[in-house]
Amino acid sequence: MTTHPGPTTSAGDPRADGLGAEAGADLVARPVEGSLAGRTVLVTGSDGFIGSHVVERLVAEGAQVRAFCLYNSNGSTGWLDESETFRTAVRDGQAEVVLGDIRDPEHVAASTEGVDVVLHLAALIAIPFSYVAPRSYVETNVIGTLNVLEAVRRHGTPRMVNTSTSEVYGTPEEVPITEAHPLRGQSPYSATKISADKMCESYALSFETPVTTLRPFNTFGPRQSTRAVIPTVLSQLLAGAGQLRLGDVSPKRDFTFVADTADGFVRAALTDVAPGTTIQLGTGRTVSVGDVVELCRKVTGSDAEIVTESARIRPEGSEVQILLSDPSRANEVLGWAPTVSLEDGLAATAEWLRPRVDPETAGRYHR
Ligand SMILES: NC(=O)c1ccc[n+]([C@@H]2O[C@H](COP(=O)([O-])OP(=O)(O)OC[C@H]3O[C@@H](n4cnc5c(N)ncnc54)[C@H](O)[C@@H]3O)[C@@H](O)[C@H]2O)c1
Repeated sequence: MTTHPGPTTSAGDPRADGLGAEAGADLVARPVEGSLAGRTVLVTGSDGFIGSHVVERLVAEGAQVRAFCLYNSNGSTGWLDESETFRTAVRDGQAEVVLGDIRDPEHVAASTEGVDVVLHLAALIAIPFSYVAPRSYVETNVIGTLNVLEAVRRHGTPRMVNTSTSEVYGTPEEVPITEAHPLRGQSPYSATKISADKMCESYALSFETPVTTLRPFNTFGPRQSTRAVIPTVLSQLLAGAGQLRLGDVSPKRDFTFVADTADGFVRAALTDVAPGTTIQLGTGRTVSVGDVVELCRKVTGSDAEIVTESARIRPEGSEVQILLSDPSRANEVLGWAPTVSLEDGLAATAEWLRPRVDPETAGRYHR
């Protein structure tokens, strides 16, 4: 694996306890201009895959972190439960947990009080589940974003970063895709993310709300749910499966390693842009799911064959055939560029997954 020097940090280094290294954070190289040290940052979706990595980066940057996690009766903070970096920050008074629900406007507003930056990542994100439970996507992704926008407007919060997705483009008219490409709701998930993006645009145009929309392409890495293709493939291979159960392997995607995506959020938190600006985070390289399977076989030393499982095939007309970003704007405006190759990121993800794979559930389909 290629090694890089770590990011410049102004506070405790998450790699010092080994967790950052374990989770692949040590792979990102580019230093960030400016500082979030001492600034209060609210992160919705802190309990999730990308959000937990963003929280750890913010702690490393010296920010005061308010981690908004989905309320539950056992007090779990999701992936942050296993983050030594975060636990230490809580003990040191550098981070706090807010359990809540993004659909609750009063609580979202109360949680936003006194905050310098809101990074809004909370969402329902699985495309297949959006086919069967679309209303919950509208309530979480659209109304939830409206609640954050209203809270930011009410408190005069200096910056908000809204999280979009490359799924808003549908199957593109041309590649590479720029931010100017038309939007197409090819799944209920995508439609709700388009609506949320448009609410942000409308608040920027109507009220000059200082919102930046970051639009990550497919992100992968440690802590990603096994409903996503890379963890599904790696888990099955690491469990020693002779056959890999997958959906269509022809669609192509532009995969970014999660530490690079988290780096994009930190840069967006630090960068003044015109309200309503949208910035894509993608590598500018596209590979088919079949190609990814091949690389995963190499990383794990497996020669499992692919078996198509019909339940995993998306409805015709909903499957997005190719996603490929033009990363120019992120590079020019944020100074962002991906630093972790797909191959290195897959190896880091496999290492993280290896001790966690349960052979009994590795092949189970999870919407
Ligand atoms: N993973 C990707 O490849 C990818 C790509 C592009 C964009 N995104 C976007 O990035 C963001 C984070 O996605 P992720 O991959 O980390 O997914 P994730 O499911 O791991 O994280 C989302 C988090 O939102 C929280 N959440 C859901 N409903 C909530 C509610 N009602 N109130 C409060 N919290 C709630 C969940 O608990 C979860 O931890 C999402 O906005 C997603 O649309 C993800």
